Amino acid sequence: MKRIVILISGRGSNMEAIVQRCAAEGWPARVAAVIANRPDAQGLAYAAARRIATAVVDHKQHPTREAFDAELARVIDGFEPDLVVLAGFMRILGEAFVRRYEHRLLNIHPSLLPAFPGLHTHRRALEAGCKLAGATVHFVTPELDHGPIVMQAVVPVLPQDDEHALSARVLATEHVIYPQSVRWFVEGALRLDEGRVLQRDGAAQLLIG
Ligand code: GAR
Repeated sequence: MKRIVILISGRGSNMEAIVQRCAAEGWPARVAAVIANRPDAQGLAYAAARRIATAVVDHKQHPTREAFDAELARVIDGFEPDLVVLAGFMRILGEAFVRRYEHRLLNIHPSLLPAFPGLHTHRRALEAGCKLAGATVHFVTPELDHGPIVMQAVVPVLPQDDEHALSARVLATEHVIYPQSVRWFVEGALRLDEGRVLQRDGAAQLLIG
C-alpha cells in the first residue's frame, strides 16, 4: 500500500477527487494525511469526516520560509509518504524541501504550462486572447510551476467567458487528470525519461475537455 500525503491551502476539491477515486477504484494506496498551511482551510473538515489524519502547519507561525519548510517536512515525514501531492497548496516551497521529495512530489497548476506560471492564470489567459486553456499535473522542481509534465487537460476559451466561467471549466478537468496522475504514480506506471514523463501503457496523457 503506497502512502499519499496531500497538502492543501483552501477548498480542497482536488484532494476530495483524489480521496474519492482512490477509494472507489481500489488503488494500491491510501491517503495517509491531509495537511494545510492555514487552520481555516475548508478541505480539512472533509478529510476529517473521512477519518483521514489531518494536520496544520501554519505559515504565519514561522518567521522564515526555511523554518516553515522544515516544520512542514517534519510533519509530512511523520506519515512516511511515498508520494506528496500539492492540491491547491498556495505557498512557494524552497529548494531544500523540493529536493527532499524529488520524484515523489506532484503539483497541479491551472494553466497549460509552461504558459502562465504563477497566479491569476485564467485572467491572464483571457487577457492574452487565448483560445485554449487548461491545467497541468507535473513533478515539482525548484523552479516555480515547472517540471516534468505528467498530464494536461485542454478546454476551449469561449467568447463570453469570464474568469469564473473559465476557471470552473478548467477545474472540472483538474478533477479528472489529477486523480488519474496520482493513480498512475502509485501503480508505478510513470517513468521519467530525460525530463519527460512516459506512461507505461502508452495511455493518453492529454484530456480534451
Ligand atoms: C486549483 O484550481 C489548482 O489548480 C490551483 O488552485 C485551485 C485549488 O482548488 N492551484 C494553483 O493555483 C497552484 N499554483 P482546490 O483547493 O479546490 O483543489
